[in-house]
Order: sequence, then C-alpha cells, then structure tokens
Amino acid sequence: MTAGLDPTTLMKQEVGKAAAALVKSGMIVGLGTGSTTAYAIQYIGERLKSGELQDIVGIPTSFQAEVLAKKYGIPLVTLDAIDHIDIAIDGADEVDPQKNLIKGGGAAHTREKVVDYLANQFVVVVDSGKLVAKLGSVFAVPVEVIPMAMTPVMNTLTKLGGKPELRMGVKKAGPVITDQGNMVIDVRFDDIPDPVNLEKTINNIPGVLENGIFVNCADIVLIGEVKDGKPHVRQM
Ligand code: A5P
Repeated sequence: MTAGLDPTTLMKQEVGKAAAALVKSGMIVGLGTGSTTAYAIQYIGERLKSGELQDIVGIPTSFQAEVLAKKYGIPLVTLDAIDHIDIAIDGADEVDPQKNLIKGGGAAHTREKVVDYLANQFVVVVDSGKLVAKLGSVFAVPVEVIPMAMTPVMNTLTKLGGKPELRMGVKKAGPVITDQGNMVIDVRFDDIPDPVNLEKTINNIPGVLENGIFVNCADIVLIGEVKDGKPHVRQM
C-alpha cells in the first residue's frame, strides 16, 4: 500500500491512521479538511466498515469533508442535532511549540474553527514539515471576508503591518470562493509576536468572518515523520 509513495504522503497516511485509531464507538466526530485529514476520514470509514467501530456520527468542516465522509460511509449530522463533539481531527498549515496553529490552506478555517473549538478533544494531524518555531514563518494568515468588504479589509490589514493578497483559484478564473460564498485574503506578516491578540484584532475588522489563527485549542498534535525511510508518528 505504501510502495512508491513520496515521504510526505507516507507521513500523512500514518498520522491520519493514528488519529483515526483514537475514535471510539459511540463518538460524535468532527471531520476536518485537507489532504492529511482525508486519510483519517478514510481510516475511520474502514474501521466502521469492518465493524471495529460502531455507532459514530461525523460533523464535516467543509464540503470536501462531507463528500469524503459519504464516500467512506460515515453517517453525518449537523450541529443542530447534537449537544457536544467528542473528538475533532483536523490538519494545520503551521504548528508552533505552544500548539498554536495557522489553518485555512484549504479555505475551510471558518467552519473548522466552529467544529474544532467545540470538540472535547481536538487532535491536530500534520507532517513534520508543518512545525515552525514561530507562527507566520512560512505561511500567510488566511482571512475569510465578505466580498463587498474586500478592499477596506485589505487596507486595514496593510495598516496592521500585513501584506494582503486575494487568494486566486486554480483551474478557475478569479478568486477562491469559500463554502460560505466569501473570499479569502492571505496576509503575510514579517513577525507574529502575539498570535492571541492578532487573532482578535483581525476578527474585529468589519467584514471579516474568521481568520486562520487557532490559539489555545489543540489538545493533541500528532506528527508524521519519516526516519530511516520508514514513516512513524510522534506526539508533540
Ligand atoms: C483547510 O482549510 C486547512 O485548515 C487544512 O486543514 C490545512 O490546510 C491542512 O491541510 P493539509 O493536510 O492538506 O496540509
């Protein structure tokens, strides 16, 4: 199954499998977005199919997660139908040593934040390439904005010291449109000395729906690594 796969894919698969193993029968499970979580959703589905897991329901964080859950036979519910989430499994674009995250590489950070913050246990799944000493070192901060507010929000983000750029579609002319029908501005900051405050400051700009800084929410970070050509998983 792993033959011929590149190291990053191997790491993603292993860490997805390790996260899926944390799900127990009867749980309500937040299903994250992205290429790493996709493996977790696949393995949860396989455990359900084999009978090893029973009676679970999923809450998807995106259209992508919904499609994958259906493909792998995971029953879905909405937040209106439940009063808690036992565990959420989700990827990240950057993870700092305090387990703060930047998310939103897949433009799904708004729904992800709702689901991940509600979960009793939030498990982050990443490959080792996502670890950074400081948030913002590699990745820009994604900001979901309602379309009519795009220009004033970009101006305010520039005044805050950021370099905002409207995210453009791939194989689609024009900007990326989120699952909510909004746009995403990716903002580069030379330094993010205080992620807690930056998250709040950005969310206070009128027209901003949500940004991709996730602070004080991750309970477990599982890291996929390749050592001596073999993938394995360690916990931060
Ligand atoms: C989706 O908007 C993101 O928050 C993803 O969870 C994040 O980009 C990680 O994705 P990969 O696992 O594909 O790197």
